[in-house]
Amino acid sequence: MKTKKLTAILLAFVMVFALAACTAGTESTEKDGNTGSSQNTEDQSATSSKAGNESDKSGKILVAYFSATGNTEGVAQKLANGLGADLYEITPSEPYTDEDLDYNNSKSRSSVEMNDPSARPAISGTVANMEQYDVVFIGYPIWWGESPRIMSTFVESYDFSGKTLVAFCTSASSGFGNSDSALRSAAKGAKWLEGRRFSAGASADDVLAWANGLGIK
Ligand SMILES: Cc1cc2nc3c(=O)[nH]c(=O)nc-3n(C[C@H](O)[C@H](O)[C@H](O)COP(=O)(O)O)c2cc1C
Repeated sequence: MKTKKLTAILLAFVMVFALAACTAGTESTEKDGNTGSSQNTEDQSATSSKAGNESDKSGKILVAYFSATGNTEGVAQKLANGLGADLYEITPSEPYTDEDLDYNNSKSRSSVEMNDPSARPAISGTVANMEQYDVVFIGYPIWWGESPRIMSTFVESYDFSGKTLVAFCTSASSGFGNSDSALRSAAKGAKWLEGRRFSAGASADDVLAWANGLGIK
């Protein structure tokens, strides 16, 4: 009798455990199911992020700029913010001092560089994965009606074939002119859109109105 009772109790325990295991199994199946669907979601999101990447790729934009005194930087930031683009500052290995920028001195660094079309001031750092960008905005200050030589260093450093390039600049008063001509000849495999000059204090609205009118988004 005692043994029967003990067996019954043991059986009850076994059943409770078996049931618990079953429930856990169901839970884990449900979880698996959930994981499955979240994997699906992940798959989808992977796909959509892949698609996103693809569409990102077709629209992924970089705004690369050089700015000696901050004016072009302001425009570049407005552009990148408005377009949701990545921003890259072209930083000279040797920064330009005020004396370097003295255009009244024919011996200043900027004058010497601009008098030598083959001058290629070195850049510190590089753009990570330039391949990922389809559209690259290239910004600079006008120096003597042209793009600073460091812009040629930049353009010659990458393969822009198949990409869309657009120059923009700031200046005291000069128009855009042919300021991007050296850059265009350095990146012939790219599709160049018409560039634009901005004043130092250009508004974000002005900058974006231009950028959105280019048909790149
Ligand atoms: C060496 C040098 C040459 C310049 N040449 C011109 C020029 O030809 N025409 C013009 O309108 N402004 C000229 N500027 C003024 C700059 O283009 C203007 O201040 C620009 O907004 C500076 O941009 P940043 O602050 O991004 O360097 C020159 C400035 C420097 C330093």
